[in-house]
Amino acid sequence: MTGGDAAAEICARIDALAAITEDPPRLTRLFLSDEHKRANDLVSAWLIEAGMSARVDAIGNVVGRIEGARPGLPALVLGSHLDTVRDAGRYDGMLGVVTAIACARELRRDGARLPFALEVIGFAEEEGVRFGTGMLGSRAMSGTFDPALLERSDERGVTMKDAMRRFGLDPEAVPAAARNRGDILAYAELHIEQGPVLEAKNLPVGCVTSISGASRFEVELTGRAGHAGTVPMGERRDALAAAAECVLAVERRCAAEAGLVGTVGRIAALPGAINVIPGIVRFSIDVRAPDDAQRQRAAADIERVIASIAAARRIGLAMRKVHELAAAPCAPWLMAQIERAIAAEGIAPFRLASGAGHDAMTMASIADVGMIFVRCAGGISHNPAESILPEDAAIGARVLRRLILDFARAEAETMR
Ligand code: GLV
Ligand code: MN
Ligand code: MN
Repeated sequence: MTGGDAAAEICARIDALAAITEDPPRLTRLFLSDEHKRANDLVSAWLIEAGMSARVDAIGNVVGRIEGARPGLPALVLGSHLDTVRDAGRYDGMLGVVTAIACARELRRDGARLPFALEVIGFAEEEGVRFGTGMLGSRAMSGTFDPALLERSDERGVTMKDAMRRFGLDPEAVPAAARNRGDILAYAELHIEQGPVLEAKNLPVGCVTSISGASRFEVELTGRAGHAGTVPMGERRDALAAAAECVLAVERRCAAEAGLVGTVGRIAALPGAINVIPGIVRFSIDVRAPDDAQRQRAAADIERVIASIAAARRIGLAMRKVHELAAAPCAPWLMAQIERAIAAEGIAPFRLASGAGHDAMTMASIADVGMIFVRCAGGISHNPAESILPEDAAIGARVLRRLILDFARAEAETMR
């Protein structure tokens, strides 16, 4: 892969995907939306151009595949996600899909014959923006999708089930997206770091050791709406003032321990008028840690403290956990292989943990997983200012390509 050409093409494809959005010039592409369908179509065209077959599976993942020495061999699976947060950056997810397609095409062009199938997945939904719970594409693929999720509604009251039908998918058929452990040799995901570590180390790429687990909650506080000018302060049941205490409690609890992080990323106050005491407030909580017991302790403490804040203010409380994913370690043998690929590019191998969630953590339930991180500017992500150096994207793609070829060598040796 010649650095400049490869970098330019990767960036052009990232830009083409970034243009598929519901709210230009911002980038927002949600699960089962028209934009999701258009992104799937574009990625399918690239997969076919790379010499792969392309299909959309039962949850809406795009699946590209090229057979190995004979049809039906287990696959080395590469991929990342095609959905975004609201007002997103353009690399989160997409970089992994676009670089994997570039590698597949290049290997085919070079006439590489692999002793395994190669697959590239554009996962349908990783962020969890539309229905509050993430990794739906990789959950379906790993056979861990909970069918009860189909009844979940989005902000407009559309259930996942109905959204799937509108998209052209059959909600009853989701189990058909599940793959068998024996069909997957390993899952490898390239992703932007979304943090500042590689930049601080002056390294373009790094090898991920593990991915933090996450717990997410939806909270609804019910007070009493009233006139902002007439209700005395002592007689109010202000749901937003209670929520403010809750937000600070989440911050305090999570700041108390290294490694633990907690975020209230979405909040809505109703009825939402300058002269009305808020009667109902809904907000989200996202708690993460590399250590599952640490995260579970914090989540339980947060549930307790929110209940006591609500009780003290005579506020009704409904709090439910909408997402729980255990921390996922990357496989040591894959880490070693990724480090070899990095070193072969003349770069010092460096290991780092991922605080962000990735499809790899769900895929870990059916396959050994490994991740390559690419440096991103200022560690900024989930933000339109997200950016990377084009040459870092090309380096990432070369590392991924070396990883695939290393796999081929290792497989060929075991078959000998
Ligand atoms: C996904 O990007 C997440 O970590 O929330
Ligand atoms: Mn993300
Ligand atoms: Mn991502």
